Amino acid sequence: MLITFFNAILIVLITWLAYLYFDQREKAMPARERYAQLMRGVASIVDRLEGYDKEHSREIAELSERIGVACGLNDQQLQSLNAAAMLHDIGELLLPRDLVKSDKKLEGDELELLRTHTLLGELHLKAQIEDLDEVPTLIRWHHERWDGLGYPDNLKGEEIPLAARIIALADAVSAMKATRDYRKRQYSRDEDVVAEVKRLSGMQFDPQLVKTWIAIGCPLASIKQ
Ligand SMILES: [Fe+2]
Ligand SMILES: [Fe+2]
Repeated sequence: MLITFFNAILIVLITWLAYLYFDQREKAMPARERYAQLMRGVASIVDRLEGYDKEHSREIAELSERIGVACGLNDQQLQSLNAAAMLHDIGELLLPRDLVKSDKKLEGDELELLRTHTLLGELHLKAQIEDLDEVPTLIRWHHERWDGLGYPDNLKGEEIPLAARIIALADAVSAMKATRDYRKRQYSRDEDVVAEVKRLSGMQFDPQLVKTWIAIGCPLASIKQ
């Protein structure tokens, strides 16, 4: 009976301490950090759908932010950059699962359908949430290329907003080093990724941005531990 009473007291005490811990943590965590964690949660659903072995969207967001800071973006621009990078592929949630995770190289109609994820992401967010600033537009243009051979609008050079050019670079860098559950890693050596980015400078990537990326040490994976 004594032990049962002791256990009951212990349970009450532990529950009370747990309540205090979570209550204090909730109060201590700034709204911005809570928002960031929520975004990470949503982004990780897309990463899972795409078969990534890591937090690809979060990695792009953090990598984009590092490049954005080096480019002198202000706080508001960095927030939009972060949100767009986190949600860049959210339109894929609206596409058939076997298309998004296809292990064969897509062509023709299937490829065109997959490419609509840029438009679906933009339109869906615009329809659901007001006042998202330029975030949906950046999502629309995250696959545009410096040489005009990207999609969906074949924008060229500085027609593409700087933030979308940053996301495109960060996305490619992260994807080159990623393993997906249906596809092998493209490059296992860091120096091969750096060489490929340099090779594509002025074609897929903004050459000035590539210089900035090199100037900050060619970061490849930037998840803050
Ligand atoms: Fe994409
Ligand atoms: Fe991506």
